[in-house]
Amino acid sequence: MEERLQKVLAAAGVASRREAEEYITAGRVKVNGKVVKELGTKVGPNAFITVDGHPVHRERKTYLLFYKPRGVVTTMKDPEGRKSIADFVKDIPQRVYPVGRLDYNTEGLLLLTNDGELAQAMTHPSHEVNKTYEVTVPGIVPQDKLDLLRIGVKLEDGMTAPALVNLLGYDYDKNLTRFTVTIHEGRNRQVRRMCDYIGFPVRYLRRVMMGPLTLTGLRRGDCRELFNEEIEELRAACGLKRDPEKKPAAESKPEKKAKPAGEGKPKRTAVAKPEGRKPARPRFKPEEKPAKRAEDGKPKRIKKV
Ligand code: URA
Repeated sequence: MEERLQKVLAAAGVASRREAEEYITAGRVKVNGKVVKELGTKVGPNAFITVDGHPVHRERKTYLLFYKPRGVVTTMKDPEGRKSIADFVKDIPQRVYPVGRLDYNTEGLLLLTNDGELAQAMTHPSHEVNKTYEVTVPGIVPQDKLDLLRIGVKLEDGMTAPALVNLLGYDYDKNLTRFTVTIHEGRNRQVRRMCDYIGFPVRYLRRVMMGPLTLTGLRRGDCRELFNEEIEELRAACGLKRDPEKKPAAESKPEKKAKPAGEGKPKRTAVAKPEGRKPARPRFKPEEKPAKRAEDGKPKRIKKV
């Protein structure tokens, strides 16, 4: 199937669609050895494309949901030799990369993909998707401190947008308070800094939800491909149109939710557990349940101020 050149470049992770258009009009892109400056030029699946003389590798779009454990860096390689994401996706032939990041000591949900367009849309400030974190801090957190997070706090890089905060419970034995924070911004160490601001430094941090995606069914270090429906929900959550290559939901949706992105069953990766293992149950104790979702099953978008 022929596709527009800028779309092929974006899908290959070379640049966003708009940047790809700029590359094309600037004469930096060649198709089968010829400079193509016309936007909208369509190319077939076997066209040999270069940008600034570098070949563009066209891969199947891949979307992996990864449960990053603590003590793993959110890069594909670490110069200091620490464990990185690459250690968990060794069997994946596509060059996926993480969308956003989690601190070394934060665990939880990460999306890995080679879809440059989706990655860019998800991290763009104008439509960043909601991210929910489960936070554990020492001591009893008074409501007025949680209210500060709800209103927004002043960090060195500016006020934070209002956050959704849900108190999960207090553990008397361990003297720990647990709550969830839902934000749509993606500033560096934001949740930790917000908690520092209210005087309750984070003891434990885990991302449990990102847009429509949750950790349910994954154990630390597990990875699975997204279902087509999840990809479409994610595209919608960050303002992208339905992918025309994907069948409409009604057609692609199986009786039970079982169809993955691409063919066959969702694959687990290098860290796949032996066949027949039951999928992990969500690991929340009743008092640790993540923030209640809205009735439609999705966290509400928090309005920016
Ligand atoms: N906020 C943080 O403080 N750390 C993370 O890893 C993610 C969000």
